[in-house]
Amino acid sequence: MCGIVGYTGSQNAAPVLLEGLKKLEYRGYDSAGIAVVQDQTIAVSKVMGRIAGLCEKTADGSLLPGTTGIGHTRWATHGAPTDINAHPHTSNDGRFAVVHNGIIENYLELRQELTQKGYHFESETDTEVIVHLMEMYYQGDFKRAVMKASSRLQGSYALGILCSQEPDKIFVVREASPLILGVGIGENFFASDVTALVAHTRNAVYLEDGEFAELTPDSIQVYDCAGHPIQKPISRISWDIQAAEKGGYEHFMLKEIMEQPRAVKATIAPRIKNGEIVLDDLDIDMHCVNKIVITACGSAYYAGCAGKYALERLCRIPVQTELASELRYADPLIDSHTLLIVLSQSGETADTIAALRECQRRGAKALAIVNVVGSTIAKIADYCLYTWAGPEIAVATTKGYTTQLTVLYLFALYAARQLGTLEQERYRSLVSALKMLPKQMQQALDMNPGIPKLAQKYHHSESMFFIGRNTDYAVALEGALKMKEISYIHAESYAAGELKHGTIALIHERQPVIALCCNESVTEKTMSNIVEVKARGAEVLALAFRDNQKIVSLADDMLFLPRTEPIFCPVVEIVPLQMLAYHVAKENGCDIDKPKNLAKSVTVE
Ligand code: AGP
Repeated sequence: MCGIVGYTGSQNAAPVLLEGLKKLEYRGYDSAGIAVVQDQTIAVSKVMGRIAGLCEKTADGSLLPGTTGIGHTRWATHGAPTDINAHPHTSNDGRFAVVHNGIIENYLELRQELTQKGYHFESETDTEVIVHLMEMYYQGDFKRAVMKASSRLQGSYALGILCSQEPDKIFVVREASPLILGVGIGENFFASDVTALVAHTRNAVYLEDGEFAELTPDSIQVYDCAGHPIQKPISRISWDIQAAEKGGYEHFMLKEIMEQPRAVKATIAPRIKNGEIVLDDLDIDMHCVNKIVITACGSAYYAGCAGKYALERLCRIPVQTELASELRYADPLIDSHTLLIVLSQSGETADTIAALRECQRRGAKALAIVNVVGSTIAKIADYCLYTWAGPEIAVATTKGYTTQLTVLYLFALYAARQLGTLEQERYRSLVSALKMLPKQMQQALDMNPGIPKLAQKYHHSESMFFIGRNTDYAVALEGALKMKEISYIHAESYAAGELKHGTIALIHERQPVIALCCNESVTEKTMSNIVEVKARGAEVLALAFRDNQKIVSLADDMLFLPRTEPIFCPVVEIVPLQMLAYHVAKENGCDIDKPKNLAKSVTVE
């Protein structure tokens, strides 16, 4: 996700900002910029690409003199990664500059209002609305303009704002996006996280949602959302830099597993308005579609396997899932009535790109669901929906998978609405169920404190079987891959009904079998499979809803889920399995964030 920094004091601000942005590089970004106030003028420099380019462009900051400034590393969400879209953004009158981390959910309405009022927009970003609001509301009172502009924003935002009329002052605002103040002597700082502060000070003030603050070289004044001054404690930053980059977690993978409720919320929230699914950038006519083909690789493919059930159930259109590495050579039956859905976290996977091009060549229109804005797949597809998960650093995907699946659910509801295959009542209840997912994912994280102990029991296993039926089987595919790729234990996912057709021959004494029992239309059958494998000596770890007492008596160990809308259950069901794989890998002393032989994005065939 984006990173923001700011400084006001006696030093030249630009070098301090550049150093701070370097400390935030680990967060992942695609462009960067700084703005500095000097002689009641704001100077801005920004680049697409790395911070090194910004250092070169500003001669390490010496070309931007001034002692107050703000900086930004951008992880593109709205608008491709370009110089123009990079932050800081400035107002038409040049008196304001802003850096922003988060998503302004109502930016389209604000952009329309401001354009009608004569404000000129340069970029495609949601952020730019903020500087024009500042210009519109400023009548000499910086604080009042900040309050009025912030009151118009919906969504998540950590802001740093400069005003050329008040050259040694910075205002910062926090709403659902982290923002920390660094308290110095004769100088003060702000940043998205402590890694950008600790080189200067370990005295920090943590803002809460709704709070904002005024920084000058000699003072920090925090205000509540009504503008009343409040006293905040100064905390001591004890983290070392390395730990801080991971938000205090031991591994990026664990951080990203824990981020999933927020990532799924960020993916859903801007796309549900007044109980309706709103996918602004889509104009797909589903009435011309007689088949949907989902193609991807690895976990993205498994997200497609889980999403297929929702698409078929809601849209009543045949959906087939194809491995991209196979589809590209399969002489596929694809034509102009096929909608291709391409899933990819990186947007750069070679096999997926090749399959996409091959299907477009045969006449299919392609919808890309990707996480990296402006990536190759995002560019060549006909339509694109971003997952807004923020950068995923660990090689093994977690929030990439769950946000891809979430976008598939959003699209399934959008398409079903268009096709009229879903009556109003059911549609509304499913939209409500979708909004429940972040909370249920958090509950799934909270209700399984015994996973580290289970990992101690199972981490010596030679092999594991993940079994399930229907959507449980689709989740078993991803659960097995997570276990394989980070703990190096051979794990096989199996359609539970297939066991008796061969694989049960492999079940020996104490063979671990992870049985997924969350799709209650088939749970009774899977419970019979549990009895079958236990009769042959298997050790069964079952995953089921918390209130399913029957299964507790059958299995040796349990993982629990909160009761979830069946169609959307896979997004929640995968979470305990991600955690299990993580802790087993930890017990095995594996390099969890960078597993051997694997790359984050497979850009070669
Ligand atoms: C998932 O944990 C793996 N890192 C891998 O299977 C990955 O999902 C696959 O390579 C596809 O990558 P993409 O989503 O970036 O296209």
